[in-house]
Amino acid sequence: MNDKKPIGIFDSGIGGLTVAKRLSQTLPNENIIYFGDTARVPYGSKSNSTVIEYSIQDTNFLMSKDVKAIVVACNTASSVAIPELKKHYDIPIIGMIESGSVMAIEKSTNKRIGVIGTRATISNKAYSREINSIDPTVEVYEKACPLFVPLAEEGWTDHKATYEIVEEYLQELKELEIDTLVLGCTHYPILFSVIQEFMGENVTLIDSGIAAARVVKEEIKNTDLENESDKNGVSEFYVSDIPTTFKKIAELFLGKPIPDIKKVNLETLTV
Ligand code: DGL
Repeated sequence: MNDKKPIGIFDSGIGGLTVAKRLSQTLPNENIIYFGDTARVPYGSKSNSTVIEYSIQDTNFLMSKDVKAIVVACNTASSVAIPELKKHYDIPIIGMIESGSVMAIEKSTNKRIGVIGTRATISNKAYSREINSIDPTVEVYEKACPLFVPLAEEGWTDHKATYEIVEEYLQELKELEIDTLVLGCTHYPILFSVIQEFMGENVTLIDSGIAAARVVKEEIKNTDLENESDKNGVSEFYVSDIPTTFKKIAELFLGKPIPDIKKVNLETLTV
């Protein structure tokens, strides 16, 4: 089977572009439709019912583009909305939590894993539940790092304030002698080097985008949805609002220029 339909990806905003980047590296011939709900970001401080409602609307938009699979490239949405989305839509739906958990367990040798994310992801205990359902002997230490999202969106990848905030949030995880740290928010890979420098080289950082891309590859293979074209896939980018600095920051997250970004009305699902 040669399925040329695109893979749909959504996030609360631009964080999911770090996942889109990994997906196009892992599956270069797949077409991608990205939707970022920039008008309503952040999801990480909203209630579960609101995040579920938004996630259904975001998915409806992607479905209107005839996608063959959905990647929920937002840890917050993945932590609450996946069961609901699976109930509504009959195509593969891949979230961040399971893939990041599996990779963290593979990498950890001392079975002490740290997880950082938004307040919603951490208070839902999404990762500790998933990791312990796979291996109950693992100790999981979770910490919300809400200031990392605005730091990433400012592009402060090497700013002294970022070093100070990283230390403030991560000191206690460092003292707990974890050997693996899950970046459980799609914004955090932007701060990868500052976090790695602070935690030290003995701690393996898990980029949930890399983990998810691996699972998407397996899933579309198992469901016979691969695009067998030998040409590079095409990516389209949609958002619900275009803030002034959007393009520059979005390109930092994606790691390459974005030629065209379209604004979409979520009520009417039209551009
Ligand atoms: N993309 C979100 C996540 O991965 C972070 C931003 C937000 O709070 O919406 O959890």
